[in-house]
Amino acid sequence: MQLSDLINNLPPYHFANAKKKIAERKAAGVDVISLSMGDPDLPAPRSVIDRLCMAMQETENHRYPEYFGMRALHEVFAAWFQRRFDVQLTPERDIMPLLGSKEGLAYAGAAVLNAGDISLIPDPYYPVYVTASTTVGAVPYLLPLREQNGYLPDLDSIPADVLAKARLLWLNYPNNPTAACADRAFFERAVEFAHRHNLAIIHDMAYAEVYFDEYRPMSILQIPGASEVAVELHSLSKTYNMAGFRVGMLVGNPDLVGAVGRLKSNIDSGMFRPVQYAAIEALNLPASWLEERNTIYRRRRDLLVEGCNALGMQAQKTTAGLYVWAATPRGYSARDFTNWLFDTTGVFLTPGTNFGDAGEGYVRISMTAPEERIATALKRMKAALQ
Ligand SMILES: Cc1ncc(COP(=O)(O)O)c(C=O)c1O
Repeated sequence: MQLSDLINNLPPYHFANAKKKIAERKAAGVDVISLSMGDPDLPAPRSVIDRLCMAMQETENHRYPEYFGMRALHEVFAAWFQRRFDVQLTPERDIMPLLGSKEGLAYAGAAVLNAGDISLIPDPYYPVYVTASTTVGAVPYLLPLREQNGYLPDLDSIPADVLAKARLLWLNYPNNPTAACADRAFFERAVEFAHRHNLAIIHDMAYAEVYFDEYRPMSILQIPGASEVAVELHSLSKTYNMAGFRVGMLVGNPDLVGAVGRLKSNIDSGMFRPVQYAAIEALNLPASWLEERNTIYRRRRDLLVEGCNALGMQAQKTTAGLYVWAATPRGYSARDFTNWLFDTTGVFLTPGTNFGDAGEGYVRISMTAPEERIATALKRMKAALQ
């Protein structure tokens, strides 16, 4: 079969390969500890599961769902957004339910970028920003994120000729993979920059609700004028341990939200209604559910950060997000270290370079395993590094 240039230029998705590698090792009898994917190991809330099962019984719900989601879902998400960020969204106009935020990133990129446009992508990055750009013929321009800059892109460093062709700036805080967060001053600067240079901003906030202690990540839509230039992606995957349900939301600039709706409705047929009811149930959960869940992640974070630092893998204590971003030990390259570690110990981490060249010298460690397994992983790493 002769395939298109689009496919021939598309690399395989890293985590699809990683899953295969893990399955092979497990089949060979290795006790694999995967701290690789950001796939929550904790269960979805009980009431969400019950609501889904109940809605499944209604045969009316087996029919094609609404293309743009049920009105009730829009309303509940708008109320959640108001409670969480003190930002008022117009339910039907400013919100588009998605089958996970990943597809929303691809659709939003395609709704903004033309072939030949420049797409400004902070590096390291969630790989979808690059594929969302290149599949429509846009050209990524990478903005390296450095520890000394708090993993915030230096917008002033972008040359004028690049800016002239740039159409889109991707942002992602709390950040995957570095777990860095952005403050209000940065978001103000980014919104002002987008206005000045006629850019759209796609802010990926998939990790909005994984935070520790008093810290609360902010929405870019809290910045005055943001909704004229920006959209933001939210996801129930990490927020309510519902990764398999596939529920995301695109919110913000109504033109872009509407454009994504138009694109999506030409390609898929909306979200299964029982899943929409389950999402409504989740969004109405009391704040105490999140607090309890985030306490579990906080303990895992402490264990990992202390463990990594004790192994000479320098790691910062994070305030949000699902990952620890740790330096590779003894000058190992990211890929050599993760391959060696997996072969020697069965502990599977993600090399920083899977998220771009700026991830060299780092590994991303996911907190999606119980404390006992994390402790075992650290013990094996210590023994291997001795
Ligand atoms: C930064 C970031 N954005 C978006 C997603 C996609 O999440 P989902 O499609 O499950 O909402 C992920 C998943 O790992 C992610 O890390």
